[in-house]
Amino acid sequence: MNNKTKSVNRFRDMIEVFRCPHCKGSLKVVDEKSLKCANKHTFDFAKQGYVNFMTRSTNSHYDQSLFEARQNIIMESELYTPIHKEISKVINTYMNSTIYPLLLFDAGCGEGSHLQKILNECNTSALKGVGLDISKEGIIMAAKKYKEQSWIVGDLANSPIAAQTFHVVLNILSPSNYKEFKRILVPDGLVIKVVPRPNYLKELRKALYGDTENNSNKNVEIVELFKKHFYLKEVINLSYQQTLDQKEVNNVMHMTPLSWNSKKTDVGASINSISEITVDLDILVGFKK
Ligand SMILES: C[S@@+](CC[C@H](N)C(=O)[O-])C[C@H]1O[C@@H](n2cnc3c(N)ncnc32)[C@H](O)[C@@H]1O
Ligand SMILES: [Zn+2]
Repeated sequence: MNNKTKSVNRFRDMIEVFRCPHCKGSLKVVDEKSLKCANKHTFDFAKQGYVNFMTRSTNSHYDQSLFEARQNIIMESELYTPIHKEISKVINTYMNSTIYPLLLFDAGCGEGSHLQKILNECNTSALKGVGLDISKEGIIMAAKKYKEQSWIVGDLANSPIAAQTFHVVLNILSPSNYKEFKRILVPDGLVIKVVPRPNYLKELRKALYGDTENNSNKNVEIVELFKKHFYLKEVINLSYQQTLDQKEVNNVMHMTPLSWNSKKTDVGASINSISEITVDLDILVGFKK
């Protein structure tokens, strides 16, 4: 069975969780190649198996090379392993293990590696993942590589997801739309949001801007806003440094939009001095109010 056929079957098995982003109506699989609502809005399966639900054109700053660097660092180094372990622990702690299937929605999944790693770490066939991103390049990479999950191009502010269908919403280093997250979560659903703290990737900032101090910790405001929408269960701070080789440092440099604004023309030279990278993140865990 090819990718597209497998994907059509997977979407069919969980068709009730999707909805038309135009008219909000339910969808059906038609002709083994598209999803269609009663108003004939139609979304085709791409050959890689993803579905594009975008209702408007966008211009993403995240291109293929950035996503490739992200995929390399997330899959081939241990830089984010503590995050994956912690998130899978949160899911195992707060979610009822008898729920089948347990549906996980990654809002702003990029090229999908975090979702895949977290699912691997949870190691249960009950978990089914759906990743959404506004960037088609990211979703193409995810669909090509992680064939057991469902991947969609869409806007997290108008997601093609029906109300009260997902048990967990993941939101890693991406924009949020709490109204939407609450709409798609089941009544006792869980939201897990990862936000950077001031020292996140500080070595990069230093190499690019000569700047080590980033005292603007916006996380107090982020937590306050989060608490308006969800019952905050915990804020888990993960801060650590890892030694990386030059290839890995190079990937870190290219996986982040930090280097967009660099005035230095020779980004390569500025990373030669880096051998350690700091990860400093908060994981916000909350239940739907
Ligand atoms: C910093 S990246 C994080 C990606 C991924 N979660 C990761 O950590 O590797 C932010 C992501 O948010 C996505 N994004 C931004 N606005 C979005 C929107 N309105 N709907 C869906 N995705 C969006 C971008 O395309 C990008 O992939
Ligand atoms: Zn429609």
